[in-house]
Amino acid sequence: MKTRLNFTHLAGIETELLVVLAADTQTATGPDAKPKPALLTADLAVLSGAANLLSGGEFKAGANETVLLHAPVGLAARRLLLVGLGKQAKATVNSVRNAAGTAVRFTKPRGIRELVFALPEPAPATPELVALPFARSTRAAIEGAFLGDFDPDTYRSDRKDRSVESFTVAAPAEADQAALQAAFNEGVIVGESQNLARSLVNEPGNKLTPTILGQHAVQVAEEVGLNCKTFSTDTIQDLKMGAFWSVAQGSAEPPTLIVLRYEPEGVTGGPVLGLVGKGITFDSGGVSIKPSKNMDEMKTDMAGGAAMIAAMRAIALLKPKVRVLAIICATENMPDGKAQKPGDVQTAMPLADGKPGKTIEVLSTDAEGRMILADGLTYARRLGATHLIDAATLTGACVVALGTVTAGAFSNDDATYDKFNAALSVSDEKFWRLPLGDEYADQIKSDIADIKNAGGRWGGAITAAEFLKVFVDDTPWIHLDIAGLAWLEEGKPYIAKGPSGVGVRSILEWVRSYSL
Ligand code: BES
Ligand code: MN
Ligand code: ZN
Repeated sequence: MKTRLNFTHLAGIETELLVVLAADTQTATGPDAKPKPALLTADLAVLSGAANLLSGGEFKAGANETVLLHAPVGLAARRLLLVGLGKQAKATVNSVRNAAGTAVRFTKPRGIRELVFALPEPAPATPELVALPFARSTRAAIEGAFLGDFDPDTYRSDRKDRSVESFTVAAPAEADQAALQAAFNEGVIVGESQNLARSLVNEPGNKLTPTILGQHAVQVAEEVGLNCKTFSTDTIQDLKMGAFWSVAQGSAEPPTLIVLRYEPEGVTGGPVLGLVGKGITFDSGGVSIKPSKNMDEMKTDMAGGAAMIAAMRAIALLKPKVRVLAIICATENMPDGKAQKPGDVQTAMPLADGKPGKTIEVLSTDAEGRMILADGLTYARRLGATHLIDAATLTGACVVALGTVTAGAFSNDDATYDKFNAALSVSDEKFWRLPLGDEYADQIKSDIADIKNAGGRWGGAITAAEFLKVFVDDTPWIHLDIAGLAWLEEGKPYIAKGPSGVGVRSILEWVRSYSL
């Protein structure tokens, strides 16, 4: 998708489809309170061209509601599409992101390949209308357009590529053009990166083995100038990654350890951020095998790893002044004669050569994510990470707790989490911090080893986080449990069902907040 930014008046723009946003300005409530849609534009030609459509009453400017007008009078555009933001008081930059996605998803099946999206601005007659910052709206609109353009039907032989060819943001001429251009460029990088994560998560297990995931990481790294190395069985064993290997030993596919580094020129001090992703390319549960119902969804169990690769791509292009490394532990989790068994005791990677690694009693081979992350986190520390963030489709318990709307977050350090929380106001992703605590840690005490890998039914997302915490110790750390959000069971007007790319934007903004 080509993207453009222009500052010309809307009425004169020749396009197949001009998109203008509207909000419901009705503030009264009750049965007599009819919606009062108003256009978010100051362009008089658009306002008069759409006047009848607005007064007609069928368009209420609800969130992501659309109405199409052909041959709008007084406009050079061939069609005018109105997209609702919902109630004016609730309209945010995220509503603009969604509206842009809605516009693109409206366009795709109709075979229209090109559209112009007018940035929302207060209208002269309704100055009380929501005024959203132009730069943030620009970035969000571009992101939303990329997200809306993605469809997951890559393996359909009758696939018609209906991708939009060109998406233009039309901004008011008086806006700060340099600031908007910068925001526009960010939007392209972030939108494309989030779609990269989605395309990886979309791939089935037979098409995306650990080896192939590693090849994708190498290719992305080459494209954006990142340092990337991949390792397999020998190195994993040499590094004494006993917890990672214990999951990999039951699969015919060799595991891959992916290491990405971003080292900006001139930055030699300051923090080193360590990004650690769960890269289970298929989770059968292992010997503690999962029920067959919905087992296919476990191809998405590398979504945390995909988020880290995608975030690293965006970091390489946006160039914050902070060093970042990413570790993705990729393997299948399969049952086999060589697979680990419930009751087995494994030794995790030591924090330093000559030191002993922690011992883990494997109560469930299906609690494999925490095993591979244990060694991933330790390795990130060994490579010098001063701050850690991990992302993983880690527990069904997190989905039970927070549903498919909000992802779980944990941290051992308030200041570090505060920075993540601040990043959420830019990313517009929903994470909710859940507690940690010694009483929870008691649930993963083992009779035979240092810890066990499953803590019983209650508080399963928390005991999983406590398990990881054993391996980060005092290093400031954030753990993101994205199990409920990595795959959208239902599509929305602005995004297809399937892989969501959750986490990419928030992790990226958290990293940028450390830029010197
Ligand atoms: N990959 C799963 C978690 C998961 C569940 C992701 C649903 C996406 C949707 C993870 O490896 C797992 O199996 N966790 C177990 C842990 C238990 C055995 C302690 C779980 O949540 O049941
Ligand atoms: Mn599992
Ligand atoms: Zn898993």
